[in-house]
Amino acid sequence: MLRRHFLIAACLVLSGPSAFALEGDAQAARNKTSMCIGCHGIPGYRTSFPEVYPVPKLGGQHAAYIVRALQAYRDGERSHPSMRAIATSLSDQDMADLAAYYSSKAAAAEAVK
Ligand code: HEC
Repeated sequence: MLRRHFLIAACLVLSGPSAFALEGDAQAARNKTSMCIGCHGIPGYRTSFPEVYPVPKLGGQHAAYIVRALQAYRDGERSHPSMRAIATSLSDQDMADLAAYYSSKAAAAEAVK
């Protein structure tokens, strides 16, 4: 747990304060992941629209990275159409909550080992 906090802190230093201004609530994200699990919940899954895309695994990625990626889809820096549509429907708080949820998933799995 300490290690994870250190990594998030290091990430914050590297990415600057604006990248992760909101505190994410992993618990609150549980109602929001229903939009995501259709694609991101399936190991090795590929979407077929607009072409065949591998779907990246979100669990265990850094919260700051997940927020940054969602902002990039929302702002058009990343162009994948489905993710753009989804990201534009999310508030900053939604993004922070989802990032907290997905980044904590691997930490929980590690604790079980
Ligand atoms: C229709 C399928 C689909 C749905 C639904 C979906 N995603 Fe995605 N997502 C993708 C695909 C495909 C990519 C990879 C796109 C690319 O190459 O940029 C992606 C990429 C991402 C990335 C970037 C990951 C990385 O490693 O860079 C994040 C973060 C993400 N999605 C979060 C979400 C969240 C949060 C939700 C729910 C609110 C969601 N996605 C719903 C298909 C989906």
